[in-house]
Amino acid sequence: MSTFFSPGAAPMTSPFTHRHIGPQADEQAEMLKTVGYESLDELMDAAIPESIRFRGALDLPAGASEEETIAELRAIAARNTPATPMIGLGYYGTHTPAVIRRNVLENPAWYTAYTPYQPEISQGRLEALLNFQTVVTDLTGLTTANASMLDEATAVAEAMTLARRASRSKSSTYAVDADTFPQTLAVLRTRAEPLGIELRLVDLDAGEPLPDECFGVHLQYPGASGAVRDHAALVEAAHARGALVTVAADLLALTLLRPPGEIGADIAAGTTQRFGVPLGFGGPHAGYLAVRAGLERSLPGRLVGVSKDADGAPAYRLALQTREQHIRREKATSNICTAQVLLAVMAGMYAVYHGPAGLRAIAKRVHEHALTLAGSLTAAGVELAHTAFFDTVTAVVPGRAAAIVAAAAESGVDLRPVDADRVSVACDETTTAAHVAAVLAAFGAAVAAPAACGAEPLARTTDYLDHPVFNTHHSETGMLRYLRRLADRDYALDRGMIPLGSCTMKLNATTEMEPVTWPEFANIHPYAPAGQTRGYEELVAQLEGWLAEITGYDAVSVQPNAGSQGELAGLLAIRGYHRSRGEAHRDVCLIPSSAHGTNAASAVMAGMRVVVVACDENGNVDLTDLAAKIDKHRDALSAIMVTYPSTHGVYETSIAQLCARVHEAGGQVYVDGANLNALVGFAKPGKFGADVSHLNLHKTFCIPHGGGGPGVGPVAVRAHLAEFLPGDPLEPGEHHAVSAAAHGSAGILPISWAYLRMMGPDGLAQATASAVLAANYVAARLREHYPVLYTGDNGLVAHECILDLRPITKATGVSVDDVAKRLIDYGFHAPTMSFPVAGTLMVEPTESEDLAELDRFCAAMIAIRKEIDQVAAAVWPRDDNPLANAPHTASAVSADEWSHPYPRSVAGFPEGVDRTAKYWPPVRRIDGAYGDRNLVCSCPAPEAFES
Ligand SMILES: Cc1ncc(COP(=O)(O)O)c(C=O)c1O
Repeated sequence: MSTFFSPGAAPMTSPFTHRHIGPQADEQAEMLKTVGYESLDELMDAAIPESIRFRGALDLPAGASEEETIAELRAIAARNTPATPMIGLGYYGTHTPAVIRRNVLENPAWYTAYTPYQPEISQGRLEALLNFQTVVTDLTGLTTANASMLDEATAVAEAMTLARRASRSKSSTYAVDADTFPQTLAVLRTRAEPLGIELRLVDLDAGEPLPDECFGVHLQYPGASGAVRDHAALVEAAHARGALVTVAADLLALTLLRPPGEIGADIAAGTTQRFGVPLGFGGPHAGYLAVRAGLERSLPGRLVGVSKDADGAPAYRLALQTREQHIRREKATSNICTAQVLLAVMAGMYAVYHGPAGLRAIAKRVHEHALTLAGSLTAAGVELAHTAFFDTVTAVVPGRAAAIVAAAAESGVDLRPVDADRVSVACDETTTAAHVAAVLAAFGAAVAAPAACGAEPLARTTDYLDHPVFNTHHSETGMLRYLRRLADRDYALDRGMIPLGSCTMKLNATTEMEPVTWPEFANIHPYAPAGQTRGYEELVAQLEGWLAEITGYDAVSVQPNAGSQGELAGLLAIRGYHRSRGEAHRDVCLIPSSAHGTNAASAVMAGMRVVVVACDENGNVDLTDLAAKIDKHRDALSAIMVTYPSTHGVYETSIAQLCARVHEAGGQVYVDGANLNALVGFAKPGKFGADVSHLNLHKTFCIPHGGGGPGVGPVAVRAHLAEFLPGDPLEPGEHHAVSAAAHGSAGILPISWAYLRMMGPDGLAQATASAVLAANYVAARLREHYPVLYTGDNGLVAHECILDLRPITKATGVSVDDVAKRLIDYGFHAPTMSFPVAGTLMVEPTESEDLAELDRFCAAMIAIRKEIDQVAAAVWPRDDNPLANAPHTASAVSADEWSHPYPRSVAGFPEGVDRTAKYWPPVRRIDGAYGDRNLVCSCPAPEAFES
């Protein structure tokens, strides 16, 4: 059994534990007193139901120091031996500008921010994302792009389903060009089958015609072989069938080539990796999705738009939020939630830094290397598969492919053996004349004159990125200041706590982050030969093993690159299991009404029917309704999907009973592991009755939220489901693939590895107990000011608590929004608003906030309650008070005119705010509805900001 440091006791775990956990022993003692317990052990005994309690120590290595951990990671990294990757397939060498690496990727002001749901304190990253969207729309020639998708393969899968929704064809056929990236095909297969979509591979190059009926036609531009083809006639033919055209397009190529939008394509999808984002053995990178006019309201994912604030000034916020799963649930068309914001910011900034001329120059250099390769190979008598290309040349070398690839590898260059007779060579921003010479030598050729450009007729004739933002910040000083200016507008963990329930905004330690940009982790192509990736394989295997031990499952896959994808992978495993037993008819997924929106959306994507189970007045799954729903759907029952502890922040005592009932009816139990921060070291879902879970490494296991991604959503299963876990998208077989790379966003796995390595079993259990203590401390301090909606055994919450604003709103008119915005004036990011219960705030303080910060938050909430009382007492009118007008900007507070019935000092420096450390939001409250009615999703003209 794990024990905890008691007041005054000497630290007994790794020194890092005491860096990661905010409250030290004396502070914990004080918090325990407030909550009414003697020790953390006693608190956890009282909070966690005995029926699920794991009593023992996790079988993990003892916690190491930060220095030891870095040394171990250095040794692992050294076992990765990256070569020069000229493999292509959507992953390319790129130079991350150092100013972007240091000031975005390695800067906590960017990487510790949350998804911009509180737009008034997120204007910096919203502007950066608007830049990203503008890059995508300008380069693809389409009108609206989102920010962002998880990778190219999943972006194309979303394009497929979008096309199906929007097409007037009744056909269920999606015609896919045979020259599509193989990993995209693998993910398309995974996504198409449960939805009854038939994928028809068409060899367009060989002149194969389109099927007579199809809802969509998919093209790769340039093709996997590198070929650049004129698709204009195909687009017409597709439209004549009522089909939409989706194009997976390479953005760098589009700086030189006619974009899909100009030939009438409806949707473009792809990756922005080569815009300065390290390869990372497959990710994370920002995928993109763009649509023509008329389809914008069907776009999945997060879309940044321009609206206005209370003063009428332009302000950014997420647009069209009603499309997201929280609102649409099982009617949602996509489950994407966490995306790839940090990487989208990087890609957008790469375009800002280089500008249109710089991007074109990079593309030209890349193209010229490819022309030299082609000319030299032809001069040496080597046949080429095609003569119109951008960066990738495919050579036809009957029977010699393996030998040529091996010879190039000898010179430190990786090529792509397409099959026994063909080799592809992809050039990129990092390609040099020496690389080209080495490749040619492997073919037995010498450098000769470049080939003529076969893609000339398809050259781009239109301009792009003429907005000033892409034509201003080209000096390093300029870029540095632009990044600083944007970061200064935002609130991230480097300013103060972000107590978002269900999000676990804990410390993302610097030691955990450092290895991410080491070249041995950063510069590896996802399809590099196995011999080069031994370090990664070791790290992944170890991490998967540790996660299995923590969760009590038998097998884990880190492939899913967000929680949503872990959900899909887990449900597909359940589907595969039932099918393997001749029970394909089991398709009902029970989901409690309190579930996260992604659950229902994922179930539908896995081909299941969602049946909602009610919650009782205590917020628990209503066992009577559960029994009724099980009875009704007994024969068709596939699974139940529950979150544990519940999304209500409570350890439900009935969980083991619930699992047993579902099993008894032949169903499987999916436990959404987003709340694992309340379980690690104390309960194992795989042992208390669940069959499968996804975890969010970007919550419990310290991957920073990045302003809305990256994330990693490993899927963990019991042994009977192990054979249905996702597999390598490039390996043939029956398995499914949910991401483009075998290990998904492998590049950020060192973060979670380092966290586990430094905490060790004792430290992890202490973190859990400390998180539970912090939530109960906040609940205890705020209870008399705001009702705590749900509690479990002994009146305790788990790792988060819901404050019920509804009675207050009813009595005073002060809304949950008002409180959230007023918290900004007090220097806080609001807790989660209106999830899972409308009109409430869900607070998750995590273990990393020290007592002073917890107290600062409680004091702010109590002071706000006093302000609410002033409104209730009609001291301030309902529509003109510090809450209704929050947040207050510096310019509003210092304006020459002030007509409000409360002083400026109350507006700008409410009780307890440190005047020397005041955070000023850059805009006042934003009118979201205005922006939805007048949708603008690319950079507005600078004149819009003139006052
Ligand atoms: C309970 C729950 N389930 C699932 C998810 C989805 O995870 P992701 O955003 O990584 O896709 C979340 C994310 O916030 C969540 O809170």
